[in-house]
Amino acid sequence: MRRSRGHGGGGGGGRCGGRLPASAAALLCCLVALAGGAAAQKAPVPATYKTLSGNAPLVIAQGGFSGIFPDSSKVSYAFAVIASAPDTSSWCNVQLTKDGVGICLRDINMQNCTDVSQAYPARQKRYVVDGVLKTGWFPMDFTMSELRMTQAIYSRTPNFDNLYPILSVTDLPSIVNSSPLWLNVQHDIFYRQHGLNMRNYILSIRKGVSVDYISSPELGFLQSIAGRLGRKTKLVFCFLDKTSTDPSTNQTYGSLLSNLTFVKTIASGIMIPKTYIWPVTSDNYLLPHTSIVTDAHNAGLEVYAADFANDRVIPYNYSYDPLEEYLSFISSDGFSVDGVLSDYPITASEAIGCFVNLNSSKVHNENPLVISHNGASGDYPDCTDLAYHNAIIDGANVIDCPVQVTSDGVLVCMSSVNLLDTTNAGQTSFSSRASIVSEIQPTPGIFTFNLTWDDFNSGTLKPKISSPLSLYLYKRNPRYTNLGKFMKLSDFLEIGKDKDLSGVMIIIENAAFLAKSLGIDIVDSVTTALNDAGYNNRTTNEVMIQSKDSAVLVKLKQQKTKCKLVYTLPSDIGDASPSSLVDIKKFASAVVVDKSSVFALSGDFVIKTNNLVKDLQSAGLDVYAQVFRNEFVSQPWDYFSDETVEINNFVQLVNVSGFITDFPKTVARYKKNSCTRLGNDMPNYMQYIQVGSLAQLAQPPAIAPMPTLNASSVEEPPLPPVASKNTSGGAPPPGTTPTPGTGSSDAHSATVSTGRLLAMVFAALLI
Ligand SMILES: *[C@@H]1O[C@H](CO)[C@@H](O)[C@H](O)[C@H]1NC(C)=O
Ligand SMILES: *[C@@H]1O[C@H](CO)[C@@H](O)[C@H](O)[C@H]1NC(C)=O
Ligand SMILES: *[C@@H]1O[C@H](CO)[C@@H](O)[C@H](O)[C@H]1NC(C)=O
Ligand SMILES: *[C@@H]1O[C@H](CO)[C@@H](O)[C@H](O)[C@H]1NC(C)=O
Ligand SMILES: *[C@@H]1O[C@H](CO)[C@@H](O)[C@H](O)[C@H]1NC(C)=O
Ligand SMILES: *[C@@H]1O[C@H](CO)[C@@H](O)[C@H](O)[C@H]1NC(C)=O
Ligand SMILES: *[C@@H]1O[C@H](CO)[C@@H](O)[C@H](O)[C@H]1NC(C)=O
Ligand SMILES: *[C@@H]1O[C@H](CO)[C@@H](O)[C@H](O)[C@H]1NC(C)=O
Ligand SMILES: *[C@@H]1O[C@H](CO)[C@@H](O)[C@H](O)[C@H]1NC(C)=O
Ligand SMILES: *[C@@H]1O[C@H](CO)[C@@H](O)[C@H](O)[C@H]1NC(C)=O
Repeated sequence: MRRSRGHGGGGGGGRCGGRLPASAAALLCCLVALAGGAAAQKAPVPATYKTLSGNAPLVIAQGGFSGIFPDSSKVSYAFAVIASAPDTSSWCNVQLTKDGVGICLRDINMQNCTDVSQAYPARQKRYVVDGVLKTGWFPMDFTMSELRMTQAIYSRTPNFDNLYPILSVTDLPSIVNSSPLWLNVQHDIFYRQHGLNMRNYILSIRKGVSVDYISSPELGFLQSIAGRLGRKTKLVFCFLDKTSTDPSTNQTYGSLLSNLTFVKTIASGIMIPKTYIWPVTSDNYLLPHTSIVTDAHNAGLEVYAADFANDRVIPYNYSYDPLEEYLSFISSDGFSVDGVLSDYPITASEAIGCFVNLNSSKVHNENPLVISHNGASGDYPDCTDLAYHNAIIDGANVIDCPVQVTSDGVLVCMSSVNLLDTTNAGQTSFSSRASIVSEIQPTPGIFTFNLTWDDFNSGTLKPKISSPLSLYLYKRNPRYTNLGKFMKLSDFLEIGKDKDLSGVMIIIENAAFLAKSLGIDIVDSVTTALNDAGYNNRTTNEVMIQSKDSAVLVKLKQQKTKCKLVYTLPSDIGDASPSSLVDIKKFASAVVVDKSSVFALSGDFVIKTNNLVKDLQSAGLDVYAQVFRNEFVSQPWDYFSDETVEINNFVQLVNVSGFITDFPKTVARYKKNSCTRLGNDMPNYMQYIQVGSLAQLAQPPAIAPMPTLNASSVEEPPLPPVASKNTSGGAPPPGTTPTPGTGSSDAHSATVSTGRLLAMVFAALLI
């Protein structure tokens, strides 16, 4: 054992009694105590489902909670039961050892799901399995005692590998307690060819193991066992790829699919790949659904859908949100499957228990606010008409515009001042306008202030969808890569008058540079644009102005703006000093913090909750966190590749007032779930994940505490005077003091020489 697994902050056995948090901490302490019974929580009672029975669809945990723990390990099965809907079924893919013991393993080739290749390097073999030659290590070549070693490598994170032994089927009942057991027999004929008999094995364990479901892709196997088991055991026929052949009937799965009445003579249900129900195009978009679920229901067969995992590239229609995918199988267009086979049973449980019946009453302007990040940029190019219109349709409360300026002084909404980031400029004739502007960035860019608004609309320049996770080769909605229109601030403000919005957020960057180098007073320009659009006397839409430059907010405050001022904190801080809070309060009523400042991470595990949010909230500041994204690679392990789990933690643990998100649809839907208002009846799978509990098992490296925000980082020199546009270095307006160059507006630190000046500005604000 290479690490110790102490009980750490688990808090002893006491908390296992009543309300179990869906957390690994619960797991830590309950692993021992579990046999007593994982508190059978009350399932929420949504409407009738369109399943064959009318009951809620079954969640089937494939090898337990194999999305985070090694498939088919004790920890995986135990956690699935704790963190999922009551009656979640534990799926074991049965293999047989040389001495006829049934074990649970994902694959008949043990090479990648156990460490057998290290333990017995010389015992590699080659076999033809269902017509395919396979090289590796196979269960029937080893006795059970030879296999009593650790298992499970190539799980998602290596931190849990090689810790847990291979389980026999008869080990399962004591681990999963009274939850239903599902045995899958993938290869009956192959084992028979090697002198082992699955049917006899299953019948031999009947007394000690109550089996609720038996499935197989070999119809002949199900036929051989039908009638030998009690009526309680359901037989389910698994369809594989339509062109491959069931070796027990010599018919292709495609042809068996058109003979469901025959299947029904043997089985009570079928399990089919997701794509049988929702076919997918070659470019990964959904086609209209087939009629298979209805057909099978008409034939009296239950339908189970397979292949669900949160960390796959699912069709783009789901916006990288696995929960949305489940919903299309359980509540859409008048059909529901009878169960789903998943590596992440928590997400299936949320979908079935909390999201089938969304609260239709207006939960709109209640906390937390859903604030778009460059519009619905997860699905459409940043800051385009498409991104904004869809953000509103998706349920954003606030849409955002980061303001940039063109060379002819037009204010536009662009997520970056550098067009190389947000448009196709690099591939157009505008690439000749690239230059280095050291106040902005050290590398060459094509900047908004080097093009006219006519250039933007010449037809050459096109917006480009963002790809913040391109490192992982994750593309967003490729069919929309370059679609949508660029937006002037004035266009944006017109859209922002939509009655469904509670407000707009305008983000001001590079104010000092714009004043000094381009002669533009961006603060006054924005104020003028707001007045021109009639926002000065609108009461229905709140205007927020966000900046990481305190000087911008200070100036607005001095002008007695009616806008809500929102200060963006620097990245990766753990706390705020009292004096910095006093400073921030002078000019802002809300702050934006990065997610990484809220919970400290190590090795992509959450290790602690920083004090930052609590301190900001105690100072009376609203806290908005950014940037929430559906792509699982943007989330720590603790959230199980499920954005809804992440949102739960930010709502239930730190109670942020707003979510700044690329996917407003996901956060807006969260607010309508039917579970988080249930108080003590809130199911486990919608509760927060105990901070640091998974890290206790995973043991990521220790990290240094995160820095504290100090007053010196908040205080900035006032904005420089606006240079005259046609004389470089024009004289500043009378009455203002020239200040030393401030350089990049990114600077969050003030120099000593400007200290006294700052004190004066801040003192002025107190009056
Ligand atoms: C095991 O994993 C390796 C590396 O990912 C891969 O190349 C190989 O095909 C896998 N073998 C099996 C039997 O899945
Ligand atoms: C299927 O084909 C194999 C090989 O051709 C044969 O041995 C077997 O008996 C056939 N099974 C059935 C059910 O026809
Ligand atoms: C269905 O399968 C059975 C058994 O193989 C066969 O006798 C019957 O002809 C099939 N029916 C159709 C419509 O293919
Ligand atoms: C999936 O998205 C594509 C592209 O937006 C659209 O054409 C298609 O109709 C969508 N599929 C479904 C089933 O809604
Ligand atoms: C639905 O939302 C309304 C308004 O926020 C709330 O009062 C009500 O309790 C919610 N209903 C359910 C079932 O959650
Ligand atoms: C872009 O504008 C900046 C600021 O006016 C200027 O310094 C730079 O030379 C311009 N670049 C090009 C290519 O015009
Ligand atoms: C709003 O303000 C504009 C001038 O900024 C004025 O013309 C208009 O009458 C005002 N409307 C209302 C309803 O007060
Ligand atoms: C969460 O914060 C809001 C204000 O943003 C407050 O009204 C609410 O009571 C808080 N909820 C909890 C549970 O602290
Ligand atoms: C804030 O001040 C403390 C103590 O004066 C110092 O240790 C810390 O590094 C400072 N934080 C920042 C972000 O400068
Ligand atoms: C240049 O500045 C002078 C005064 O400083 C002004 O009269 C003139 O209109 C300006 N020209 C342009 C093109 O802005």
